[in-house]
Amino acid sequence: MDIRVEAVQYYDLQPSPFDDIPFYQSRVPSKDASVLELGCGTGRVLLPLTDYCGYIHGLDISEAMLSICRQKLQRANIPKDKASVEVADITNFSLDRTFDFIIAPFRVLQNLETDDQVNGLFDCIGAHLSRDGSCILNVFHPNRDADGLRKNWCTMEEKFSWEKSVGKVQITCHDRRPRMESEKLVLYPELIYRTYQENALQRETVLKIVMRCYYPQQFEQLIVDHGFKILNRWGGYADEPYGDGPELVVEFGHRG
Ligand SMILES: C[S@@+](CC[C@H](N)C(=O)[O-])C[C@H]1O[C@@H](n2cnc3c(N)ncnc32)[C@H](O)[C@@H]1O
Repeated sequence: MDIRVEAVQYYDLQPSPFDDIPFYQSRVPSKDASVLELGCGTGRVLLPLTDYCGYIHGLDISEAMLSICRQKLQRANIPKDKASVEVADITNFSLDRTFDFIIAPFRVLQNLETDDQVNGLFDCIGAHLSRDGSCILNVFHPNRDADGLRKNWCTMEEKFSWEKSVGKVQITCHDRRPRMESEKLVLYPELIYRTYQENALQRETVLKIVMRCYYPQQFEQLIVDHGFKILNRWGGYADEPYGDGPELVVEFGHRG
């Protein structure tokens, strides 16, 4: 089941909490590089990378997200030998080739709920990363310690996230935090989109997502435990030191 079918129309409206696109453009190893984007969604990052690499391949489990990405690729006249996308589960796929650079922007790793899924992702990265290639994964840096999250994260109170006008339609997004799994710190937030016309509610759509949390040391350890070598790390996309910024961004490659 594609959980994003109803909410897909709102994805590109949300204001991004950071400007990560120049960062990913600057990390592409060369103009000829082959890039694999895991969880490419509507192509928010995939499209702006097409001018910076030889070829980019995107995978996503949501056909609804990919259909928007395909429309954008077509509108931009980007040929299939430059960029192409397909439905796949990033925890279990086989493409029969390797890539110079693998990315999963906007916290895709955190959508994986179980250890088996996380292990599957790292196995797939290992199998698809070229010998000298590198991979960048990113998660958010929790703004409180684990006990603080366990005690205070859940609330049924809706929190305002953003609003936007599209023509005569007003769109709002709130989030709700009904439950979490306390041991592994897996959060289950709900995003509630509402559309209004002349102040009358037209439609309400709820997207239930998974956000598994990682702390700075734990995130690096996870990567090392899966047999990789850390190459670089950042605390965000504005040069924040690792552990001091709002995001955790780690680049790694094969060991040895
Ligand atoms: C927050 S969006 C990020 C999209 C895009 N990377 C960006 O930066 O805008 C997370 C994406 O990961 C995809 N995703 C989550 N779990 C996945 C899985 N197991 N396999 C493939 N894609 C997955 C979702 O469908 C969604 O498009």
